[in-house]
Amino acid sequence: MKNFNDSVIYQIYVKSFMDSNGDGLGDIPGITSRLDYLEKLGVNYLWLTPVFISPMNDNGYDVADYYKVDPSFGTLDDLEHLIFEAKKRGLGIMLDMVFNHTSTDHEWFQKALKGDPKYKDYYIFRKGSGGNPPTNWISKFGGNAWEYVPEFDEYYLHLFDKTQADLNWENEDVREELYEIVNFWLDKGVSGFRFDVINLISKPDEFADDEIGDGRRFYTDGPKIHQYLKELNRETFGRVADTITVGEMSSTTLENCVRYSHPEEDELSMVFNFHHLKVDYDEGDKWSLKNFDFQELKEIFDHWQSGMDNLGGNMALFFSNHDQPRALSRFGDDKNYHKESAKMLATSLHLLKGIPYIFQGEEFGMTNAYFTSIDDYRDVESINYYNILKKQGLPEEIIIKILQAKSRDNGRTPILWNGEDGHGFTTGTPWIPFSKMEGINMEEDQKDENSIFAYYQKLIRLRKESPVIQKGSYKIIDKDHKSLFTYLRTLGEERILVISNYYGEQVNFDPSKYDLPELSRENYKVLLSNYDQFNLEKEKISIRPYESLVLSIEPHK
Ligand code: NOJ
Repeated sequence: MKNFNDSVIYQIYVKSFMDSNGDGLGDIPGITSRLDYLEKLGVNYLWLTPVFISPMNDNGYDVADYYKVDPSFGTLDDLEHLIFEAKKRGLGIMLDMVFNHTSTDHEWFQKALKGDPKYKDYYIFRKGSGGNPPTNWISKFGGNAWEYVPEFDEYYLHLFDKTQADLNWENEDVREELYEIVNFWLDKGVSGFRFDVINLISKPDEFADDEIGDGRRFYTDGPKIHQYLKELNRETFGRVADTITVGEMSSTTLENCVRYSHPEEDELSMVFNFHHLKVDYDEGDKWSLKNFDFQELKEIFDHWQSGMDNLGGNMALFFSNHDQPRALSRFGDDKNYHKESAKMLATSLHLLKGIPYIFQGEEFGMTNAYFTSIDDYRDVESINYYNILKKQGLPEEIIIKILQAKSRDNGRTPILWNGEDGHGFTTGTPWIPFSKMEGINMEEDQKDENSIFAYYQKLIRLRKESPVIQKGSYKIIDKDHKSLFTYLRTLGEERILVISNYYGEQVNFDPSKYDLPELSRENYKVLLSNYDQFNLEKEKISIRPYESLVLSIEPHK
């Protein structure tokens, strides 16, 4: 299996990328109209969030028909045209397959509700006990994970919203249906897939209460997960050379991720995991306010980088996506060091071992939404938690602060292509308000020759040209440094040192402390920096606020 480590992937949250017809919703023709921009950026693949027919309770992650494009996004012709036009520019399209659950509007679920035994067995229906649901598991969007159906006096499992019913992967017919879907889209010429929460598909034989948690330990990386993924691979994309696949792995382990992504296991090309994005959860609680724990962030990166490197796993590298607040507002300083911290975060992430992902808008420094009213939010999870926190008695002001920091809508505001009305995104009213952060947009960024966009282009080029970035081993240098994350990538004689300051104060870096050659122009060459000027002719270098410095160490030094 190919490992794609010379590639960079760009994520498109379709609903917010580009609206071609003025209805306020991003759509497929909108994406096609921006392909030249994406080609110029230099990425290789475009991952599109789900475009299938859906009631949109979870913005398309509740699929009602996997074979049809939702009319709000366009038509099948539009999608085929996009695949064709993208290919012409050397860009592959990856579709998002949501196979842990379907929408309750899906024909299968509707037949199940009518009592058709074939389709009831497509889902997970169980009896409750003593008036309670079958287990005490908590849905990822809040509340119990079982929904009662009075006609059957039974409950069905929904790990997410109650309109997203979990599929029964034990049933061979279900698996075959899903494989047919993947094959249908492969035949349409897509280059790959992202599989939504795919490590949750294998449920335990017995459904029991979780006395110490929310139930996830029973169904995460479940008993038959590797068997199912191998079968999925064999029956579908495994037969088309170079298909790229990435699995979204929720609350997973390193050992499982190695197996999911090791080329010899024939499961997936690479995996997303989320441990590094929980470092601002207070005691594991997302819906809280806490500054991110930098030491923990480094430890997690180090654990995963070294582990995957040593054991041959393949990691997707990302800070942002449509389920996360914007990294720039979360780990950088989007007000005082907007450009510097956007570039620093990009450098620190892209030069790690793995395959980098850019989330739309990240390439010119989009920030969180900074909404001040619950009326601006659209996301089902955010609204559920707003109500839960209200019930717990938290003041409105604090809840809004929590949402400003944690809501998924922070990553979902429409792309700010320019500074005009509608921001070049729409001529109508956008489905969700634009970010309240003023003055940031793609055109503005590109006016500057040192734009964030141009910096991303350099990073992408560097990866493509540099075997050490693609394949080199990884080693952390300054594990305990309070502000710097520094690592070394090595391939044969080639060594690259990546130094990044995650804070707004200047600090020193002294290579001799870490068994690295002394600073001089003979020993080091600057490959990339997010500041204009630097002086290597000292024994220590000052690393300025949010500075990133990429140095290649000359051989034999
Ligand atoms: C993960 C997706 O990224 C998220 O947006 C969605 O809500 C859940 N899976 C459920 O499909």
